[in-house]
Amino acid sequence: MKFRDLRFPAGFLWGSAAAAHQTEGGNHNNWSEWEKIPGKIKDGTNADIACDHYNRYEEDFDLAQELGHQVHRFSVEWSRIEPSPGKWDEQEIEHYRRVIKALIKRDIQPMITLHHFTNPVWFSEKGSWLNPDAADLFAPFCRRIADEFSDYGIIWNTINEPMVVVTIGYLWGDFPPGLHDFGSAIKAAKHLLMAHGQAASQIRDVYESKGLEQPKIAPVLSTSYIMPENPNNSNDIELAEYIDNLYNHLWIKSAISGRILEPMGEGDIYPTLENSVDFIGVNYYSRMVVSSERDFMAGELGPKDPCRVRCQGLEWEFYPDGYYHQIMDYWKKYRKHIFLTENGIGTSDDRIRQRYIMSHLQKVHQAIQDGAKVDGYLVWSLTDNFEWAQGFSSHFGIIECDFETMKRTPRESAFMLREIIQENGLTKEAQEKYLD
Ligand code: BGC
Repeated sequence: MKFRDLRFPAGFLWGSAAAAHQTEGGNHNNWSEWEKIPGKIKDGTNADIACDHYNRYEEDFDLAQELGHQVHRFSVEWSRIEPSPGKWDEQEIEHYRRVIKALIKRDIQPMITLHHFTNPVWFSEKGSWLNPDAADLFAPFCRRIADEFSDYGIIWNTINEPMVVVTIGYLWGDFPPGLHDFGSAIKAAKHLLMAHGQAASQIRDVYESKGLEQPKIAPVLSTSYIMPENPNNSNDIELAEYIDNLYNHLWIKSAISGRILEPMGEGDIYPTLENSVDFIGVNYYSRMVVSSERDFMAGELGPKDPCRVRCQGLEWEFYPDGYYHQIMDYWKKYRKHIFLTENGIGTSDDRIRQRYIMSHLQKVHQAIQDGAKVDGYLVWSLTDNFEWAQGFSSHFGIIECDFETMKRTPRESAFMLREIIQENGLTKEAQEKYLD
């Protein structure tokens, strides 16, 4: 194949992403409770120790620095900070202050996610995202974190992948709370939207009251290219459009318009949503094929293409064209800057990961050429970690983690990414080396 050098815009930011529960170990939240229920985690493991990142963050950030990373995205674990309603754990706040300072010391920009799938147990006991007051229960935590860390030049992410929380937790039942109910899913989506609004307005308010320049704030979406199983069947096409709107757009359209759109609401204004989206965080892994002959609401997707490589355990197909499609779609519909907050593949064969990252970055480059404003790319993930319902059976790290010894070993893909970062682009030679 013929390649040419692909340069990214000056100032494009590169790095990696992770989340508290998947890496830290020692968390007590709705997921640690879920992990105790037999059968919920595919390989029977739990995140009790995870990567022990809570104690080894310095070592992990040393590696990120050596690998040239400029940004690190991580989540602050709500259940640590607010173990019971209104009670603050000062030691945990200080822990995260050290984490932030450790990044800054290494010249790595911290990007903080306020909610990455996990809730304190007390929040679950109050009905979790079905509680009409859920957003108000989440707000004090956001305010406290914004207040504590407003001096560190943080880029803020409010909610990570609300529609994954909703779809997998409330519709397909594979994440807590394990429901299979469309009405509950829609209600949870609405309350997560309100929580995003609350988070953004708390941050804005804290910075304003301190006379600080407003930071950049974004929700982070999981996006999937939704395709009809039969492109000539009008029912399949109609279903794909319906799911695309529901999964990829309803929530962000509401956040940007400031209105709780149908079916979550009746278009009513929710004031804290105003000015809540400076940019859109976009996580992309694969496509979803849907068919009118199958029950999407029960988690039934169309057949996989047997020729495509798939993500370990999760069976997501290697589908870089979908990345281009989704970036352009968000850009054209919303005209908001995009930060690519997660992209990667679970695999034990690092050559697949190299090919995955390289071919997805080609698509990012193409989208930028075609006008999309994309500010950065973060690989998921820095190290192998606890992959939710898959346990430890799906390896997403550019750094291998030996879960017996906790030894970290960067994979070839980590060095490939370092070269990309140094070049701020994909050289012809690198593409030849990793794609041919
Ligand atoms: C989540 C991560 C997860 C990754 C791979 C995203 O949905 O934000 O927590 O590990 O995808 O499944």
